[in-house]
Amino acid sequence: MLRRILVALACLSLSVVGAAVAQPAEQPSQRVRDLLGRMTLDEKIGQLNQVPGGRQRALNSRLDAAALDRVRRGEIGSFLHVAGAAQIRELQRVAVVESRLGVPLLFGMDVVHGYKTMFPVPLALAASWDPALVEQTARVAAVEATAAGLNWTFSPMVDIARDPRWGRVVEGAGEDPYLGSILTTAQVRGYQGSSLADTTSILATAKHFVGYGAAVGGRDYDSADITDRTLHEVYLPPFHAAVQAGAGSMMTAFNDIAGVPLTAHPALVRGLLRGEWNYDGLIVSDWNAIPELLNHGVAATPREAGAAALRGGVDMDMAGNLYSAELKGAIEADPALLPMLDEAVIAVLTAKERLGLFDTPYGRADPAREAAAMLTPEHRALAREAARRSIVLLKNDGDLLPIVASARRIAVIGALAEDANSSLGSWRAQGKVEDVRPLIPALREALPQATITYAQGYRPEAAQAIAVTASGEGAQAVHEVSDAEALAAAVEAARASDLVLLVVGEHFDRSGEARSYTDIGLSAAQDALAAAVLDTGKPVVVILMNGRPLAIPELAERAPAILETWFLGVESGPAIADVLTGRVSPGGRLPISFPRANGAAPLTYAHLPTGRPAAEDLVRDTARYRDQPITPLFAFGHGLSYARFQYSDLLLSQTEVAADGQIEVGVTVRNTSAIPADEVVQLYVRDPVAAVSRPVQELRGFRRVALVPGQAKRVRFTLTPAQLAYWDGTVDGGRWRIQAGDIQVMVGASSADIRERTTFTITSDGVSAIPATAIPTQSAEEPRP
Ligand code: BGC
Repeated sequence: MLRRILVALACLSLSVVGAAVAQPAEQPSQRVRDLLGRMTLDEKIGQLNQVPGGRQRALNSRLDAAALDRVRRGEIGSFLHVAGAAQIRELQRVAVVESRLGVPLLFGMDVVHGYKTMFPVPLALAASWDPALVEQTARVAAVEATAAGLNWTFSPMVDIARDPRWGRVVEGAGEDPYLGSILTTAQVRGYQGSSLADTTSILATAKHFVGYGAAVGGRDYDSADITDRTLHEVYLPPFHAAVQAGAGSMMTAFNDIAGVPLTAHPALVRGLLRGEWNYDGLIVSDWNAIPELLNHGVAATPREAGAAALRGGVDMDMAGNLYSAELKGAIEADPALLPMLDEAVIAVLTAKERLGLFDTPYGRADPAREAAAMLTPEHRALAREAARRSIVLLKNDGDLLPIVASARRIAVIGALAEDANSSLGSWRAQGKVEDVRPLIPALREALPQATITYAQGYRPEAAQAIAVTASGEGAQAVHEVSDAEALAAAVEAARASDLVLLVVGEHFDRSGEARSYTDIGLSAAQDALAAAVLDTGKPVVVILMNGRPLAIPELAERAPAILETWFLGVESGPAIADVLTGRVSPGGRLPISFPRANGAAPLTYAHLPTGRPAAEDLVRDTARYRDQPITPLFAFGHGLSYARFQYSDLLLSQTEVAADGQIEVGVTVRNTSAIPADEVVQLYVRDPVAAVSRPVQELRGFRRVALVPGQAKRVRFTLTPAQLAYWDGTVDGGRWRIQAGDIQVMVGASSADIRERTTFTITSDGVSAIPATAIPTQSAEEPRP
């Protein structure tokens, strides 16, 4: 489909660019129409009912005789949080053999960064800036999940997140809609493979449609108060990318936008998604979100809530049990709902058909494959590669890293160093702590010449269990308690060492669903530990483990080296050791800005210039905080390497381009060091003068390039003016406007480390139908002498 769009883009004359954005929705198949015709009202409603068969921590716990009876009666269209080939085979058998119409079931779960082989959390994977890798991890997740009988994952989460107080930043690709769109496409491809009917393919869900990441104050589930422009330019593009990639399902978001909950939002779901974008996949509500329409205050009764959700285009009710209880009455009261019910049923049946479930209902529930598919050596190897590539070197003064051979006594300090549980991050499907290879043994193996001591530094204490969400595999907040003895032992270990590896950050359960915090710094216990360890004057490498950007200005100032390792999955320890020892040079880059203070959130590098752009000079009144520098602590796209790279010869194929043309941007990157390493070449643009103010920088291309010592490569990006278009909501319900004028091009190693600049001119006006950031920039590389 993508290819078709690009061809369409290339072929179109005049200035209407990319008008062929969406293909007409497919008609329901003969089989689906026949089936629909034979269904009773109750059976139709049953198809829209998704029932929890357990939570992740107690899989299949609700699968009892009563549940099987409901399947027999056709009251259930899908289960979530069930897994296991044998269990699913039995459920499917009951549906297919013992229900009147034999409609197979959908089995969904949040397989988010792996099923059994846990990969880095999504934010970490995004830091790899490596779409091919991200696609491979999703493929492996699909292979394992389908072996356990699943046919549907509630992933990828494609919500753009610019507020690190929001705990779910860990689940997404960060702050940028271009990077987010590219990684959305990669994940959908990985999950769904080349054909959904393949029994190793799993239905992908782009969620949460839409604006969920814009929750005011970073409070999960809260309202999104965003402008039409921000909605279209920032939050919607990854969903558009998902549609183009053929994502089989979408999940509506919990939040409202300007008072209209997405669970009942006809304009965005029926109008934009179904209508303009021609999306014909399955739309599922979020967990219990239909009954929650009452809490939103847009429905007075459950019946009204059900009718509103159906009118709003929600096909399936996840865990709300409301369609099944109320839709019949709602339809009797208002027969105009009946065609909408039929449309919803068609969407469910079509998803089942696309998955091949009518023909091979047990294809994914094969105990033999289940026994063989999990955590294979190949999957582990990919997990290690993914973990290595997700690590970001934030600071490395005096080239303290990699660890030199003369460092014989190494002190590993901080309780997170041995917290294998945290390495799994949130949403761990069937990931198990015992499968994690933790840091300390990995270091001992990687550095046999060194003596490695460990000190906890403070006491992590299980706090009372906090609200258990769907992601809450025994979710337990951890209090980090200062402990004089533990602190003294840590200081002692530091003093006796040549090098300290100080492992700090956050327990995994501080980020994730319903994990919003006003304080995104370190805990008091970790702060005290870090200060005491740094006071020893020993060289300190900070290893961060966390699921969100942290505000750690003091640590960033005082520690000479900082390695961001997120939550890296089952191969966490060996991957970190690979990077610490220099076996691999770190090549990850931040997919999200780190603020200097809690109060600096939300933030993004892609902000508008304002009438009084932030200036360092405090005497001037400008758009800044007076108590903080104007820069982020670590910028979007930032990440160092053990190597050094030189950029040169930024050249354009031409200096002028018509609205329907294209332009090539080429740059040479050379590894000037003696270390083989990857550089992520980043292309940013700015439209300095337009009818509306445009961001000071916007990512529009990137390429992770491997370079051996001394090697140079020419990296080329092909841009189209449609990628510079902005949303113009004033005409015909909105369009993407390409405005003639100059465009600044910036190429460099991060948004804050631009090495080369140039300018070209768009010579004509035009309109485009595709969100600018959802258009992928083609790139290529070739060796240079
Ligand atoms: C989350 C979704 C998730 C669903 C099912 C909800 O609480 O918001 O992202 O897919 O639970 O587990």
